[in-house]
Amino acid sequence: MTVLIKGGTVVNADRSVRADVLCHEGLITAVGDELDAPKGATVVDAGGQYVMPGGIDPHTHMQLPFMGTVTSEDFYSGTAAGLAGGTTMIIDFAIPNPQQNILDAYNQWRDWAEKSVADYSFHVAITWWDDSVHEDMGTLVRNHGVNSFKHFMAYKGAIMADDEILVNSFTRARELGAITTVHAENGELVFTLQKEIYEKGITGPEGHPLSRPPEVEGEAANRAIRIAEVLRVPLYVVHNSCRQSLEAITRARNEGQRVFGEVLAGHLLIDDSVYRHEDFDVAAAHVMSPPFRSKEHQAALWHGLQSGNLQTTATDHCCFCADQKAMGKDDFRSIPNGTAGIENRMEVLWDQGVNTGRLTMNEFVKVTSTNAAQIFNIYPRKGSISVGADADIVVWDPQASKTISAKTHQQKIDYNIFEGMTVTGCASHTISRGKVVFADGELNVERGAGRYVDRPAFAPYYDALQKQAQQAEPVAVRR
Ligand code: URP
Ligand code: ZN
Ligand code: ZN
Repeated sequence: MTVLIKGGTVVNADRSVRADVLCHEGLITAVGDELDAPKGATVVDAGGQYVMPGGIDPHTHMQLPFMGTVTSEDFYSGTAAGLAGGTTMIIDFAIPNPQQNILDAYNQWRDWAEKSVADYSFHVAITWWDDSVHEDMGTLVRNHGVNSFKHFMAYKGAIMADDEILVNSFTRARELGAITTVHAENGELVFTLQKEIYEKGITGPEGHPLSRPPEVEGEAANRAIRIAEVLRVPLYVVHNSCRQSLEAITRARNEGQRVFGEVLAGHLLIDDSVYRHEDFDVAAAHVMSPPFRSKEHQAALWHGLQSGNLQTTATDHCCFCADQKAMGKDDFRSIPNGTAGIENRMEVLWDQGVNTGRLTMNEFVKVTSTNAAQIFNIYPRKGSISVGADADIVVWDPQASKTISAKTHQQKIDYNIFEGMTVTGCASHTISRGKVVFADGELNVERGAGRYVDRPAFAPYYDALQKQAQQAEPVAVRR
């Protein structure tokens, strides 16, 4: 299949240039002025529009079994919804139950993801530890294209990783040339605060943010960062929601540590007043961890993105419908945690980032695509409009306007956290692996067309880290 995108302005992370883009058999084969359409090519008219690398959402949970239920969105519907919003790749999570063989879990998720309509990859969570986990991490890196391991510092009694697991896994990740990632919340504190709040008689969704204050997140982010510092391994902190975790990241980066931070579109745009909504269904629909925060934290997160101390934007797309959220009708601790957003991430960020002057178009490309590709080592295959890259492209109409609603979205969830928001700037066309899969509001996807993306280990840089770690003086002497 051949597609020619004609008459647009190509916007990459580093520059914008007027150029046509030719895609053939899944790859970008030419970028240049006045390209001729080969015989039989589909021509996309991009006049007055921007041609950008398809979005990469580095944090999604399709078909996730969690808190006694399974997310309503699977890999088919979730990746399709992503394409409708210009996102052409996800990095999801394989999450073994404690004691479950991690290769078995990874294979289970690979199986579930076969039906994806866009490309995908997996972070693998380390939820327990023994020699087999140590061994299997090596197999995943060497044979299965996994270069990132996730650690949930919350969800005590389920998938929480304590300090012992963090230390073992971070050390192993460094040996293998893999990046570590954390969900930063102090799970012990959350557990204690949840109990205290519930016993005080606060049983509704308003108890959720009270049990997870910003300090709980800041402590865990700082702890993970310091453990990573001592063990000399790069760290990526997912879904930063508050000033405290941003400050921990900024401090470490200023000290030269290799730490990255992600922020969710939801945390940038929605504040904690949602938890005080009188309708349980509305308040519960917003229950996610870490919770939405006050406007002061939102402002700090925007500054983090603008300054480059936060590098990526994600959604943590994790859909539960009202009947699932109702599991926690009498006890906020049982409301399944998660919200949706994959379809809307790019448009709300354009509207509130580019249209407001907070971000340039090139910065928009960085934070929605290129930085994730670089951090997770798939650049320039992904995250770039350049010859040889995968033809994952979004054609962006900066004049198009729409009002977001659950009534019209593709996502398989009965609520939209951005409901009623009118955005200007939307995907007019999405091209996935060289095929037009979304055009003028219509999806044209093929079940199983998405491919697993191998992410190679970070060999040379980590070799140096490993050598340093072996030759290092004890930390106390280093200071
Ligand atoms: O509430 C959330 N974020 N649910 C998904 C699991 C996680 O913590 O990322
Ligand atoms: Zn999380
Ligand atoms: Zn998540």
